[in-house]
Amino acid sequence: MTEGLAPIPAGHLPLSAQAPGKCIVFGEHAVVHGAPELLFAIDLSTQVVVRPAPRWVLNGDPSAAERHPYFRSVIQSPWAGAQPVDVRTVSRIPRGAGLGSSAALSAALTCALSSTTGGVDRPALAQRSFDVERGAQGVGSPGDTSAAVAGGFLTVNGEAIGESLWTVRDGDRTWNVRRVADPGWVWVVAHTGIPRATGDAVRAVGARLARPDGPTVLAEFARIATEGTRAVAAGDRKTVAELMVRNHELLREVGVSHPRLEALIEAAHPAADGAKLTGAGAGGSIVALPREGAETELVRRLARAGGLPFVVRPAPEGASLLSSP
Ligand code: MEV
Repeated sequence: MTEGLAPIPAGHLPLSAQAPGKCIVFGEHAVVHGAPELLFAIDLSTQVVVRPAPRWVLNGDPSAAERHPYFRSVIQSPWAGAQPVDVRTVSRIPRGAGLGSSAALSAALTCALSSTTGGVDRPALAQRSFDVERGAQGVGSPGDTSAAVAGGFLTVNGEAIGESLWTVRDGDRTWNVRRVADPGWVWVVAHTGIPRATGDAVRAVGARLARPDGPTVLAEFARIATEGTRAVAAGDRKTVAELMVRNHELLREVGVSHPRLEALIEAAHPAADGAKLTGAGAGGSIVALPREGAETELVRRLARAGGLPFVVRPAPEGASLLSSP
């Protein structure tokens, strides 16, 4: 069994689960249109504590089932069981920052509730977590939820250069998810502080890619992600950094950059080999590959430019049950 990919065993309430956030290195947005994506689970996570209750409650809110789309999406799922629960969440992932907070919540809750209804294997957990996020968001790919379920580095729609983990389905569409070896680098992300809605950004890019030059733009996104994945697998930092810069230019071209993202990328420049927006964009965060040994300088520069920087490392473990609350 690949590390971190053990099935989720059956369990009884109360129980607790966690799932990591994610950072996309290449291919956000384009993945929704079938191009490859490369991403990794980050060492910031969301934890949920789930207890039996007379009605469905999220963080003390008894009307969350009507008001919180991700919670509603979970509890309407056939595998969630009929027993209402009280859920408390604790997250170190900034919300609306492009770092996978909604995927981590979806995967952690799906993991916990699937345990109460008999347990689940990883491919089914990846499918269920995607269905939850897709149900709440209306659009999107299974990259974020697969990272939350698998941990480590992954490709979606990528070349067959790593072990195939699972295929996620959405109607007629399928996405193949594969493991890629972690090159062992340290990354820096910085949040602009500007929240954004993934669904709106995905729909705007869809409209942009429907224009006559859309297929050419999509092919360039695909080329960058394919070459970027090969470079990560080969540990070729210089090529990865160059392709991150090119990927950002394309994301700017399809309209999902933001003046605050541009300012952070500019500020990162002297201490980073490469930087780009990560996630849906239009606000959210950047990811930078620091010049070797310049992590602290990079963090300082990003903070001085008004960003909220974090040093992140890939989290090898995906969603899991925690010891009893
Ligand atoms: C959001 O984290 C990544 C997008 O590609 C949307 C998706 O893949 O669901 C923008």
